[in-house]
Amino acid sequence: MKFTRYKNLPPYPFPRMRRLLEGIIPQDMTAALNMSVGEPQHDIPPFVGDILHRQRSSYHKYPPLQGTENWQRAVTGWLVRRNNLLPGMVGPDNILPLSGSREGLFSIGSVVINREKHGQIPLVLGPNPFYQPYAGAAINAGADMIYVADNCDGMPDYSTLPAEILHRTALAFICNPSNPGGHLASKAYLKQMILLARQYDFTLVGDECYSEIYDGMPPVGMLEACYDLLREGQADSDNPFRNIIVFNSLSKRSNLAGLRSGFMAGDPDIIAESLRVRAYGSAGLPLPVQAASAAAWDDEDHVTLNRARYRQKFDLAETYLAGRFSFRRPAGGFCLWLDVGDGEAACRALWQQAGIRVLPGAYLARTDGHGVNIGAPYIRLVLVHDEALLEPALEKIANTL
Ligand SMILES: Cc1ncc(COP(=O)(O)O)c(C=O)c1O
Repeated sequence: MKFTRYKNLPPYPFPRMRRLLEGIIPQDMTAALNMSVGEPQHDIPPFVGDILHRQRSSYHKYPPLQGTENWQRAVTGWLVRRNNLLPGMVGPDNILPLSGSREGLFSIGSVVINREKHGQIPLVLGPNPFYQPYAGAAINAGADMIYVADNCDGMPDYSTLPAEILHRTALAFICNPSNPGGHLASKAYLKQMILLARQYDFTLVGDECYSEIYDGMPPVGMLEACYDLLREGQADSDNPFRNIIVFNSLSKRSNLAGLRSGFMAGDPDIIAESLRVRAYGSAGLPLPVQAASAAAWDDEDHVTLNRARYRQKFDLAETYLAGRFSFRRPAGGFCLWLDVGDGEAACRALWQQAGIRVLPGAYLARTDGHGVNIGAPYIRLVLVHDEALLEPALEKIANTL
C-alpha cells in the first residue's frame, strides 16, 4: 500500500540535516556542539523535580483533559498578568492543556478546518520561513497551504492577499516572536490580522512559544490585542477572543522541553470543539506534570534569570558575528538567522571543520512558484547552550565561514 496523504510533507528538518551530514567525519569531535535544536540547556526550575516526585502516586490516574483546577488557575492567572487582561476575562472555558504546543499546532487544523469553505478546498496561511508543523496542520485537514514571505517588519502580511484567497482561508498562523527570524509583531499588526480573521471568518493562531525570551520590550500577546479591540468597541463583549487561539509552552520559557507541557487559549468555541475531539485521541497531561507546570506558570523569577542569560549570549553573538552574515540581534527568541550564501554548504562545512551542527535555512522554508527557496542562503543556529560552550562555538563559526 502506498500512503499518499502526507506526500507533500518533506521529511522533518532534523532528519534532513542528519542525511545531509551523513558520512562527514568532523575533524575535531572533542568540542562537538549541536546548535540546530531549540532545546534550552539552562537549569530547569528547582521546584519541578520535587513536585513530580511528591505527586508520583497520581500517575495511576488518567488526567482530566481540560486540566486540573490548580493548572487552570495558574494558566489563566498567567494569561491575565502577561496580556494585561481584566481578572476573569479568561477562565477554564478558554484554555486547554497540551503535551507541548507542537501537537496542538498540528492538530488544530483537523478541528477548525471544515471539508470545504464556500464550496472550495480550504486554505491555510502561514509565514515563510516557518515552524514546520503548520504545514502538517494543513495537510492533516485536507487543506492547501499558502506561504507568505515575512514581508511586514518580519511578519507575513495576510491583508494584502486577494479577497478570493481570504474567502477560502480557514486557518492562518502567526509566529510571534517569529522562528527563525526573531521578529516581534506590533500591536497594530496583530489587531489588523485579528480583524481580518473575523471579516473572513477564519481561525487565527498566535504561536507564542518564544514570548518570554526577549531582549528589550516584551512581545505583545494576541489576547492583549483582542482586549484592545474590545476596549475600542471593535469586538463583541460576549466573546472578545472570537476566531483567536494562542499557543504557548514551558519548553522555552522554563527550559522544560522534555516535560512536554503547553496550552492553547482563546475562543471558547474552538476550545470546546478541541476538547470534544481530544477526548477521542489525546494523551492528556499527567497529573504530576500538571502540578509542576502550574508551579512553573506561577513563578517568574526563573524566567527573568533565563532572559538575562540570553541577553548575555546575544552580547557574545554580537561580539563574534556583528557586521557579518547580515547578523541581526533578535528582538525575541534565541535563534540566529545568518545569511551565509549557501545554507547547506555552510552546514556541511561547519560540521566537518568545527563539529558544529546548524540547520540549513532551506529546510525551514518552502520553494515558491519561481523555484526560489527564501531560506536557502541562510543557516539557523540556536543560543541554547551555556556561555562556556557557546563562546568557543561562536568563535569557530566566525572563523570557519
Ligand atoms: C515556533 C515554535 N512553536 C512551537 C514549538 C513547539 O514547542 P513545544 O512543543 O515544545 O511546546 C517550537 C519548538 O521548537 C517552535 O520553535
